[in-house]
Amino acid sequence: MNGIDLSVNVGGLKLKNPVLLASGTVGYGNEIAEFTDLNKIGGIVTKSVSLKPRKGNPPQRIVETPSGMLNAIGLANVGIEKFITEKIPFLKKYDTALICNIAASTVEEYVECVRILKDEDAIKAFEINVSCPNVKEGGLEFGNDLKAVGRITEKVKSVTDKPVIIKLSPNVSKISEFAKVVKQSGGDAVSAINTLVGTSFDINTRRPKIKNITGGLSGPAIKPVALAKVLEIKRNSDIPIIGIGGIMNWKDAVEMMIVGASAFQIGTVNFINPNAGLEIISGLAEYCEKHNIKKISELTGSYQI
Ligand SMILES: Cc1cc2nc3c(=O)[nH]c(=O)nc-3n(C[C@H](O)[C@H](O)[C@H](O)COP(=O)(O)O)c2cc1C
Repeated sequence: MNGIDLSVNVGGLKLKNPVLLASGTVGYGNEIAEFTDLNKIGGIVTKSVSLKPRKGNPPQRIVETPSGMLNAIGLANVGIEKFITEKIPFLKKYDTALICNIAASTVEEYVECVRILKDEDAIKAFEINVSCPNVKEGGLEFGNDLKAVGRITEKVKSVTDKPVIIKLSPNVSKISEFAKVVKQSGGDAVSAINTLVGTSFDINTRRPKIKNITGGLSGPAIKPVALAKVLEIKRNSDIPIIGIGGIMNWKDAVEMMIVGASAFQIGTVNFINPNAGLEIISGLAEYCEKHNIKKISELTGSYQI
C-alpha cells in the first residue's frame, strides 16, 4: 500500500506492524512457520516458558464451544534450557520481533527466568503471564492480587532494560486497577486479555468435557469482553495496551485499536486460518488508505469520550 506507515511503538517495543501472534497458539513459531510467512508478522509471543519443563494438565485439554474454545493446557512447555538451545535459534531465522512470555509460580522464579534470558539479543521484550487460569500455583493467584502484580513488575524490571509487558486477567472486577499498578511499578505496557474461566459438561456422562474441569475461554465469544476491558484500561491509565481476545479479521483489529490498543495479538484464529495475520495486515493497510490514515498509530484510542 502506498506510503502507509504500519509501524508501532508499544512502550519501547518497536514493531513493523501491530500484528502479534498470541502466546500458546503457535508454539515457538515452529507450529505455524510452514503455513504462513512469519517474516511479515509484527511479532511472535512465545508459548509461556517456565524455569523447568512442565508437562501441563492431562487430556482432554481442549474443547470447542459456541464461537470459541476452552483450553486447559496447564502451561506445558520445554523449560528455559531447551528454549534457549532449541527454540531461540529457530525463531532467530525470521525477521519478526520475538517476545518471550514467562510463567512462574513464585516472584523469584519470574525474576530468575528474565535474568537468564535478558542477554538473548533475539528477545525484544518480555510478556509476563500473571493470568493463566489453568494452573494451581502462580497464574491467577498472582493475577488477582494487586500487590503481587506490582511486586512482580518491579522485580522483573529491576533485572532487564527490555520492555516488560504484563499480561492481565479479565477474571477480576476492575482490570484498570491492575494496569495502574503495572504503570506505577515501572512496567512498559500491559496486554489484555488472557482467557476467561469457563467450563462445559457432557450431558450424557454428566462429566466435564475438560479433565481440569474448568478451562480458559477464547475466540470470537470473548471479543466484546476484551474490547470493554481495553477501553476501561485506556480510560483510566496511559500505559500502552496490547489488545487480545477474539480478533478474527482486520475489522476486529481496527475495533481493538479504536478502543485503545497500540498493537494486538491473535490467538484462536491461528488454529482456523494460519494466514489470518497476513490477511489482517493487508486489510489494515487498505482500511487506512480508504480512510486517509497515514500512520496506523493514529487509530489507537481514537474513540474518546
Ligand atoms: C490453546 C491455547 C493455549 C494458550 N496458552 C497460553 C500461554 O501459554 N500463555 C499465555 O499467556 N496465554 C496463553 N493463551 C491465551 C492466548 O494467548 C490469548 O490471550 C487468548 O487465547 C485470547 O485471545 P484469542 O481470543 O485471540 O484466542 C492460550 C490460548 C489458547 C487458545
